[in-house]
Amino acid sequence: MQQNTSLKPYNTFGIDATAQYFASFSRVEELGTLLEYRNNLSVGGMQAPLLVLGGGSNILFTKNVAGLVLKNELKGIELIKEDADYYYIKAAAGEVWHDLVMYCVENNYAGLENLSLIPGNVGASPIQNIGAYGVEIKDVFYQLEAYHIQHHAIDIFGKDDCSFGYRESIFKQELKGQYIIVSVTFRLPKKPVLNISYGAIKEELENMKVQDVSIKNISQAVINIRSSKLPDPKQIGNAGSFFKNPTVSKFRRHVIVEEFPKLVSYQVDEMYYKLAAGWLIEQCGWKGYRKGDAGCHEKQALVLVNYGGAKGEEIIALSQEIIASVEKKFGVVLEREVNVV
Ligand code: EPU
Repeated sequence: MQQNTSLKPYNTFGIDATAQYFASFSRVEELGTLLEYRNNLSVGGMQAPLLVLGGGSNILFTKNVAGLVLKNELKGIELIKEDADYYYIKAAAGEVWHDLVMYCVENNYAGLENLSLIPGNVGASPIQNIGAYGVEIKDVFYQLEAYHIQHHAIDIFGKDDCSFGYRESIFKQELKGQYIIVSVTFRLPKKPVLNISYGAIKEELENMKVQDVSIKNISQAVINIRSSKLPDPKQIGNAGSFFKNPTVSKFRRHVIVEEFPKLVSYQVDEMYYKLAAGWLIEQCGWKGYRKGDAGCHEKQALVLVNYGGAKGEEIIALSQEIIASVEKKFGVVLEREVNVV
């Protein structure tokens, strides 16, 4: 157990906040002791708050963290079962997401290739149902194991128990703060269903002069697209998309298109459309904007960046200005995707 630990190496935004208490765990058995230790810590006369950190790639620290930060370092990836139709791959929560994707690509297990190069760890993937290029993990999710912080027991959640939605799950809602994800099992079809519906993938495969579309080629195409548009957190601090793409009614979209015919949007169902938040933000003139060390990425306006010494409050202040200007111009209120602590 450490005290006053800098969290800078543990968040991809590169914000220099500290944790009052900090420990990492690499075995589930350690959790009982660590959580008991936490019961004896008090912050302002109350039980010390707990924050579990995975890859730190979807979090923005705006202050020092009071209480205990636990870094999940549980490791292991294995094929636990296969039947006539599926492979079942179980990955420990502390595994790096992209390492799991590469394991699957190398073994020719299809299903995760569109999710190549997403920063973060496996444990966070179901919490916000990560998605990219036409695939979300709910499409291949089988079950997860989670440690109940109060009951000290492991519960198993199937797909229907998780209430997956767009960047949403029960672990961000009703069960927020109650569980620590221990492992996630994916069910990958033996007859691969390759998804190249996303325009950018098709274009990149053409650029790559690919003859046959394969798991490996799709993964490489996604890696190429992401590397060309999204800043590498090792070079410029960021947490991927800072905002969600807003969902609006068919009517509301129609009203906006009347005034802005170039609006980028996607039909969700009969009633709703998703708008490209990056486009809305770019239209408000923010793309490439920089104030001090806080900025809006020059190639993808949905991504806010820390050029080095930005404080969490400066990033938040910039995000507020962006939200206000998008609301003023388009009447749409952007919602943050990143967890603000
Ligand atoms: N666009 C602009 N200007 C910008 C950015 C985007 O005009 O600065 C327009 C373009 O027309 C583009 C469209 O928006 O065609 C969509 O952009 P992009 O394909 O880059 O995807 P996105 O909607 O901005 C979402 C996810 C990403 C995911 C990509 C690819 C969210 C919040 N973001 O971004 O996920 O990688 O699709 O599927 O849903 C993340 O969640 O952190 C993340 C990076």
